[in-house]
Amino acid sequence: MRKILIGLIAFVIAQTDTAQSDEQQRFAKGKELFETTCSICHSIQMPLNKNYDQQKWNKVVNKMAEKMKHKHKHKRLDELTDEGKGLIVNYLVNAIPPKK
Ligand code: HEC
Repeated sequence: MRKILIGLIAFVIAQTDTAQSDEQQRFAKGKELFETTCSICHSIQMPLNKNYDQQKWNKVVNKMAEKMKHKHKHKRLDELTDEGKGLIVNYLVNAIPPKK
């Protein structure tokens, strides 16, 4: 019985570890995507100075993705997928400290 319990605890800890590094990976990917794609037309410091919530970031990132589509010289940016947008929003929401 004891062995099973220890095994169970180890399993739960391992699961929690994985969940955390997944979140860290998402954050790192979002940061990279933000720094490479959102720096093309303006500074990345400008969005970093905004105090938006998740809903507002979703709107802004969608608006920016639309702008990218109309810029043919940035064809690569057509590749900003829904997943990519989600990663950027996730990064922004977590990276920017809320200002009061
Ligand atoms: C194709 C060029 C282009 C790219 C790429 C781009 N932006 Fe913009 N962005 C603009 C322009 C032009 C404006 C100013 C006009 C406006 O606000 O619509 C702007 C304005 C903004 C603003 C201020 C206006 C607002 O609604 O708050 C934010 C924040 C912003 N961009 C964030 C981003 C983020 C985040 C990304 C990456 C997902 C990004 N931008 C990528 C062109 C771009």
